[in-house]
Amino acid sequence: MTVVLGIETSCDETSVALLEGRGDEVTLRSLVILSQDVHRLFGGVVPELASRAHLTAIEPVLRGALSEAKAQLHDIDVVAVTIGPGLVGALLVGVSFGKALAAALEKPVVGVHHMEGHLFATSLEHRDAIPPFTALLVSGGHTLIVDAEAWGRYRMLGRTRDDAAGEAFDKVAKLLGLPYPGGPHLERLAAGATRGRVRFARPMLRRDQAPGDADFYDLSFSGLKTAALNEVRRAEPAPAAEIAAAFQDSLVETLVEKTARAVQQHGRTRVVLGGGVAGNGALVDAMRARMAMLGASVYAPSGRLATDNAAMIARAGLFHFERGFRSGPDLNAYASLTLPGLLA
Ligand code: KG4
Ligand code: ZN
Repeated sequence: MTVVLGIETSCDETSVALLEGRGDEVTLRSLVILSQDVHRLFGGVVPELASRAHLTAIEPVLRGALSEAKAQLHDIDVVAVTIGPGLVGALLVGVSFGKALAAALEKPVVGVHHMEGHLFATSLEHRDAIPPFTALLVSGGHTLIVDAEAWGRYRMLGRTRDDAAGEAFDKVAKLLGLPYPGGPHLERLAAGATRGRVRFARPMLRRDQAPGDADFYDLSFSGLKTAALNEVRRAEPAPAAEIAAAFQDSLVETLVEKTARAVQQHGRTRVVLGGGVAGNGALVDAMRARMAMLGASVYAPSGRLATDNAAMIARAGLFHFERGFRSGPDLNAYASLTLPGLLA
């Protein structure tokens, strides 16, 4: 059994987790996530404030994770820390802290790619959410469709060409006068809508697209956001709830169909969702219904594991540690970073 301490500070969550296990047999002993509230005042994440907040939070969050697990520092076998992609100043807090802690404990440190962490997150709650699977990762900062052949063997199929799915939710929510972050508010507003007055085109989704075309899997949400803006600005716009519903319907159908393409092309029977937008009930329901037609099961994480968290970083770190990987003292933070294990 290996005890892994995970650290995640790539954006606006300061998180530390303690996980213990071997292979896919893992137990999450504790997970503390501190969401930085300060950004609400600004309607978006302010990088400098995020770094400072991580700095004051990281040590108490570590103490919280240890006490929740009834563990001591000397129980830790390896430290796993997010090294990117993300906000460099924010990442550096976790990387520096993790390196210093590992050095003081004379234990190894393993740098983890944030998105690979998301690929592992759902498996902490669902035993069957293990490769091979198709993953849809949708959050405020990223939108990816990935084929996971095995842990550590991935194909990057599609990504957004502009806004991330959560970012689009937040921007349209703002247009509709909802508070930040707007995704959950927009979902609630849409739930009570009567539909019919507005329909938005499905971005990047046409029947004539074929595997191999760059736009077969790629996504784009900025046009959809503009369509919503144009509707809001009309002399007699549809009710806000209807605009919210039309926006969500378009975004959800696009995500579901592109994921269905990936499932069919790679013959997968499992779909794993991740990222904050995976908490959207309309998306999960539509995904389940569509995948049932293809004979595939859908695994969605609970809120704590959908959002940025250190448990998934510890889990991905355990995988690399078991394969013999160790980071050196030159471990650094990177704003952009290629997913490890990409297949041609
Ligand atoms: O993964 P996450 O918690 O944080 C980062 O992006 O780092 O994702 C947050 C995003 C926000 O854009 C938020 O509006 C969106 O996920 N989100 C939702 C829902 N819950 C969170 N979007 C749509 N429907 C939801 N229920
Ligand atoms: Zn994330």
